[in-house]
Amino acid sequence: MTFAIELIYIVAALLFALGLKLLSSPATARRGNLISALGMLLAVSATLLNQGIVSYQWIAVGILVGAVIGAFAARTVAMTSMPEMVALFNGSGGLASLLVGWAEYARSQSASTSVDTGSAVPIMLAVLIGGITFTGSIIAWAKLQDLKLGKIKLGPAILFPGQQVFNSILLLAILTCIVLLAIDPSGPNAQTFLYVVIGLSFLMGIMSVLPIGGADMPVVISLLNSYSGLAACAAGFVITNNILIVAGSLVGASGIILTKIMCKAMNRSLANVLFSGFGSGAGKVAASGEQGEAKPINAEDTFFILEAASSVAIVPGYGLAVAQAQHAVKELGDLLEDNGAEVRYAIHPVAGRMPGHMNVLLAEADVPYDSLVEMDDINPIIETVDVVLVIGANDVVNPDARDNPDSSIFGMPIIEVDRAKTVIVSKRSMRTGFAGIQNPLFFKDNTRMLFGDAKASVQALVSEFKSG
Ligand code: TAP
Repeated sequence: MTFAIELIYIVAALLFALGLKLLSSPATARRGNLISALGMLLAVSATLLNQGIVSYQWIAVGILVGAVIGAFAARTVAMTSMPEMVALFNGSGGLASLLVGWAEYARSQSASTSVDTGSAVPIMLAVLIGGITFTGSIIAWAKLQDLKLGKIKLGPAILFPGQQVFNSILLLAILTCIVLLAIDPSGPNAQTFLYVVIGLSFLMGIMSVLPIGGADMPVVISLLNSYSGLAACAAGFVITNNILIVAGSLVGASGIILTKIMCKAMNRSLANVLFSGFGSGAGKVAASGEQGEAKPINAEDTFFILEAASSVAIVPGYGLAVAQAQHAVKELGDLLEDNGAEVRYAIHPVAGRMPGHMNVLLAEADVPYDSLVEMDDINPIIETVDVVLVIGANDVVNPDARDNPDSSIFGMPIIEVDRAKTVIVSKRSMRTGFAGIQNPLFFKDNTRMLFGDAKASVQALVSEFKSG
């Protein structure tokens, strides 16, 4: 039986790897998701065949409760709340690994065989990383929800003097307890060390996410995702389950790769994201001096500009997701093409609030993949574009990121829409984007502001085209 289980685990691991590969393109992502889920179904089913399982009763209850919660959450979650849901899932994964480590320690202590140093290390790693992931993810979720603790708003970075020294001492205390426990895992104080590590890892999770600001949360969530994988991997070593080790390693590695990709797209180092307190208001948030007056435009005049254009680039951002304007945008794109214009959808890698956010939305509206252009491909030709239609994007088209060294987003690569012949910006007001800074694009001579909800504005343009 053990041989059959290990064989199924190998098949499951191959399905995970194939699923991950397919997830890397929007065209194959759905299939990738299904194949990975099939791999997980095989892995779980094979594990249930294990002779060591004494009671299926609680497993059945767990599967039922988990399936109901998971299905309900997946069906009801709004696209814009996806990062919050991922945060909660990461936290659950972390807590599960912590409980596996703790339970295994308790089981070994009560059995005649006591824990040795070799098994104490993975147990403590599962507990430590799992604990940090759990509370870190809860704080990340609370920040994304913009919750308050008394009068303190959790959303922005929360900083206090000596914070990094405090965190370093905390980490040192945890490591000391782990070493002491590993030296004598069955000693009289071992249990106390375990409880101290659990408590301090919870505190560590809270303290390490508190100083990170709202705009950086997607990066932190990806990092916590990676941690949850590492915790699962450690739990796999604790209970010597190969598929848990493989799955945990894959999650750990893919999470860290995604974290790196996001940091690169924002031109920031991971250390800068974790320790700079971006979003606390303490950073540099100056807009360049060149402001002036924004020039509003209505749908009718926008229609005349678009009708005369032979090339149009649509730049979607977070506001498109909020307004759920993707179907209207696709309809407008089709009408522009029927009118003889070349239409491209220019995608910034961190537009929206999660990786691939814009790709997912546009795919939902059946925008063909070959109409999507990446930032690095549109920028060299942007001067030749007649009209850029910026829909609900702000930070990712802010020229201060390129021009103003005093700006908090200076150095972040942007879609340089200000170099196009005409720019139309669809948003509701002059309010700032997620980085909380003003955008000089809105005041440029070649920019017109089409104020209003993105869906309503685009639908108005569609009506103009249809009646025009
Ligand atoms: P933002 O800079 O956040 O700007 C979105 C704009 O949409 C807002 O200025 C808002 O202006 C407008 N808006 C909101 N609701 C709207 C509606 N119903 N209709 C029309 N407009 C609406 O978005 P972005 O340009 O996509 O930039 C993303 C930001 O998130 C960047 O700062 C990026 O670094 C950060 N971030 C993203 C990620 C990932 S992975 N995507 C990861 C880390 C950080 P009004 O309120 O005036 O309408």
